[in-house]
Amino acid sequence: DGLEIEAITMPGKQSGSAFSQLRLFLSFLMYCWGLADPACGYFLKNCTIRCNLSDPSNMKVLCYNRTLEVIPLDIPLKVSNLDLAMNKISKIEKLDFTDLSNLKILNMSINQISQVDDGALGHLDALQELGLAHNRLTTLSDHLFQDLANLSLLHLDNNLIATISSSSFQPLSSLKTVNLTNNNLYNMKEVQPIVQLPHLQELYIGSNRFTSFQSQEISNTSIELRLLDLSRNPLEIFRVTADVFPYLEVLDIAYCGQHGCMEWDVLNRSFLSNVNRLNLSGIEMSFERMGMVLQTVNSSLVHLRLHDLVNGSRLKIKGLTDIACQIPTLSVLRLEYNNIGNLSEEFLQSCKHMTEVDISNTGLTQLSEFSFRSIEQISALKLGHNRLSSVPKATRNLPTLKILDLSFNIIHKLGCSDFSNLTGLTQLFLFHNQIPNLQGCVFQDLKELRILKLGSNKILTLNDAFMNGLHKLDTLNLAGKKLSSIRKGEFKSLTSLKNVLLFDNQIASMEDGAFEGLVNLTELQLDSNKITQIDIRNTVLMGLPHLITLDISCNYITYVNDDKLDPPPFSHLTSLENLRIFSQRHKGLSHLPINFLEGLKSLLSFQAGSLNIKDLHPDTFIHTPRLWFLDISKNEFTALTPKLFHPTPRLNRLYLPKARLQSLDFLIEANLSRVTFLQVRKNDITAVNETVLQSLPALTYLDMQDNPFTCGCSDAWFVQWMESDNQTQIVGAGEFTLDLGLYYYISTTCLVLLTLVASFAYHFLKWEVIYGYYLFLLTPHGCQYDAFISYNAHDEPWVLRELLPELEGEQGWKLCLHHRDFQPGKPIIDNIMDGIYGSRKTICVISHRYLESEWCSREIQVASFRLFDEQKDVLILVFLEEIPTHQLSPYHRMRKLVKKRTYLSWPRAGEQTGVFWQQLRLALETKDGSAEENPILSGVQAL
Ligand SMILES: *[C@@H]1O[C@H](CO)[C@@H](O)[C@H](O)[C@H]1NC(C)=O
Ligand SMILES: *[C@@H]1O[C@H](CO)[C@@H](O)[C@H](O)[C@H]1NC(C)=O
Ligand SMILES: *[C@@H]1O[C@H](CO)[C@@H](O)[C@H](O)[C@H]1NC(C)=O
Ligand SMILES: *[C@@H]1O[C@H](CO)[C@@H](O)[C@H](O)[C@H]1NC(C)=O
Ligand SMILES: *[C@@H]1O[C@H](CO)[C@@H](O)[C@H](O)[C@H]1NC(C)=O
Repeated sequence: DGLEIEAITMPGKQSGSAFSQLRLFLSFLMYCWGLADPACGYFLKNCTIRCNLSDPSNMKVLCYNRTLEVIPLDIPLKVSNLDLAMNKISKIEKLDFTDLSNLKILNMSINQISQVDDGALGHLDALQELGLAHNRLTTLSDHLFQDLANLSLLHLDNNLIATISSSSFQPLSSLKTVNLTNNNLYNMKEVQPIVQLPHLQELYIGSNRFTSFQSQEISNTSIELRLLDLSRNPLEIFRVTADVFPYLEVLDIAYCGQHGCMEWDVLNRSFLSNVNRLNLSGIEMSFERMGMVLQTVNSSLVHLRLHDLVNGSRLKIKGLTDIACQIPTLSVLRLEYNNIGNLSEEFLQSCKHMTEVDISNTGLTQLSEFSFRSIEQISALKLGHNRLSSVPKATRNLPTLKILDLSFNIIHKLGCSDFSNLTGLTQLFLFHNQIPNLQGCVFQDLKELRILKLGSNKILTLNDAFMNGLHKLDTLNLAGKKLSSIRKGEFKSLTSLKNVLLFDNQIASMEDGAFEGLVNLTELQLDSNKITQIDIRNTVLMGLPHLITLDISCNYITYVNDDKLDPPPFSHLTSLENLRIFSQRHKGLSHLPINFLEGLKSLLSFQAGSLNIKDLHPDTFIHTPRLWFLDISKNEFTALTPKLFHPTPRLNRLYLPKARLQSLDFLIEANLSRVTFLQVRKNDITAVNETVLQSLPALTYLDMQDNPFTCGCSDAWFVQWMESDNQTQIVGAGEFTLDLGLYYYISTTCLVLLTLVASFAYHFLKWEVIYGYYLFLLTPHGCQYDAFISYNAHDEPWVLRELLPELEGEQGWKLCLHHRDFQPGKPIIDNIMDGIYGSRKTICVISHRYLESEWCSREIQVASFRLFDEQKDVLILVFLEEIPTHQLSPYHRMRKLVKKRTYLSWPRAGEQTGVFWQQLRLALETKDGSAEENPILSGVQAL
């Protein structure tokens, strides 16, 4: 033990004063606390924690996609959002979620859950969202959702649910949305308890096995029910004979029925008088009956989907459209996936009120010139995914039109009158056609156009395509396919342009002044072209005073050395904040010229990964003092010089994975005091020096996975650092610890614990943030009790038979005991807080069992917060039994460290208890003073 004990003297400069001893003691307690209830950044083996120190009540714990078979044991109790989706969990056991009283969102979707113990979710009083979709539940039993009175969203879709117990949903008085899509429900009665919930708004029961929907099977439905999704059920009949959902707004019965003969029996039109969205797509119902359906909703319907009417001939679809268009309130008609082919003048003649018509994917080859003429207020026309070979005349002269979608057709020419008189058009989608070069007159009437998408066509050069009109255009998408060059001034009339997307073309040359005139341009995407270093010249990139983002990734830019460029390529881009140049084709950039970034005084983010660069000159970043984000991953550095980072004091995020780094020692002298995020996975790092991490005081995220660490005792500090540092989240820490598993577990009880105390003292200031949070929650109380007793259940007989009669009976103190004084129904932590803050002292009754379990309990935590917070002498430790030294080593050491605290030990059997009670009385009599001013019982030996 000798060696281990020596470890405690490590933080030499602090070990003198009593206050530092107090700190050490507290640190130890906080270590316990850390185990029981990790703080932000604390690592968990199977999960990562996301949270903000300034708002710890928003802690997210992410354990998704980890092949977990059971729910992890070490979930922090403060968690508010827990994601366990995509694992292999097969059941939820009774105690899995005890004490997660702050949990608001629990996602367990995509697991193999077939069993949930009664009451297993019962402790989650605060739960608002529960995800159990994609599991193997077959029944929902009586007590499944017991106590979830705050639940508002429940996902149960894609299970095997066939029966729902009549009382299982009863507790869910706040439930608003239930998704039971794709289960095995067949009897509408199963759903009755759900529709009766007072606040139910949305019910999804599509893709089940219901064969009928009859209003007499459901009664007393929630008057808040707005949405009912019954789609894809083999309904034979939909019958409403009473006003069961007076406020229903959305009804989805798409793909219902079988063999084309679903019946519709709605006695009274007023029964569905608020339905404004209706989906009748793919429904197996005769056209006559569909007409009746439309009649039923004919005073409220706004949005109608009639997709994919499998057996619908053009004539029938036209007939149905006519009925629909008679509905005076209807404004959106969607006819996708029908076989229309040729849109005659009459087809939409009755649709005068429509504002949006969607006839994408309908095999259109021809449209009559007057197809849309009768639609006076047409605002959006969707004609994508058809076989139109030119822009139809029908879409001209529609001054109210705002959105025209002609994407995914086979348009192979654009004429000067194609968009004539579309003076109100703001969005025009022409991508995925066969449009060749453009004439200057094409867009001349589009004075209001804001967004033009022309990508994936056959445009080779722009010539004067954008010389007329388009003065308000802010986004131009020309991505994809064949554009090969940009000549001077081709965009110059597009004075409002903010975003130009030219990625995925064949651009191999850009003339000087290619982008001149684009004074408001903020984003230019030139990635995945054939640009070489010759095109990256300051004369090409001039006249862009407001450019913020430039992407020239995946091109053919290469430098043979890192000599200065004259002039530097980006010298005019004084507003540029983001420069992306990663992954050049062929050889990569190979070298980054010293002054490559000269002029980029606003640069915040530089992404330069996969460039095959071996070395960066120390002056690389001298022109970019504001740099905040740097990604130079996947290069061939074996080492980096610390000087590289001296000009970038604001650097916050550093990505260096796969960069062949052999060491992180360059960070020590790099002055990266603001780096919060460091990614160095997949390098060749074999060891990490403690000073490296000390040189990154702001670090909150560190990923060092997949490095060939050599394991040895010299890395012990790292294991401790990982576990003790409450600020930094370490990804892959679990793996790392497993490598060191043997060492770690064997020594947990001795060396690690002791040195942890030391390292905690070192990191102590970080804890203050966490304390602060708790103290903020704690409001001072007047003292109701003289002492709060913290003990293990096994020692209860002693407490009740010995302690209580003496202290309350003989000495007359007022004690606080859980089983007696805790208020039922109040969260346990609040009770403890109240107990400890409502008492002058806290007595910990220490035994083997107490050390094993209670020592790290919340009572100790809270008492220690208080001790720290108020610097009061509140803690009295009573040792109930002798504890062998080897087992007590850390605690023994502790006792010495805190010998000014009050220690008492219960006399052995047969010995007098008088002195013990006398000492305890003195301890309880001690006034609240600071630790230093309490000499009364110092030196009382416990063991
Ligand atoms: C889940 O994890 C596997 C292996 O770690 C990974 O390949 C996969 O992409 C992940 N899936 C999702 C949806 O994140
Ligand atoms: C982490 O997951 C593994 C595999 O499911 C499991 O064996 C282990 O107990 C888990 N660890 C914790 C702390 O829950
Ligand atoms: C309901 O579940 C289905 C099937 O998983 C899903 O497609 C749909 O988006 C879900 N709806 C809601 C509102 O969660
Ligand atoms: C545009 O509208 C004007 C006025 O209504 C009309 O005279 C002209 O013929 C229209 N242009 C085309 C190409 O239809
Ligand atoms: C550039 O944008 C500003 C602010 O949005 C605007 O006032 C100005 O007119 C624009 N310049 C041009 C040439 O469109």
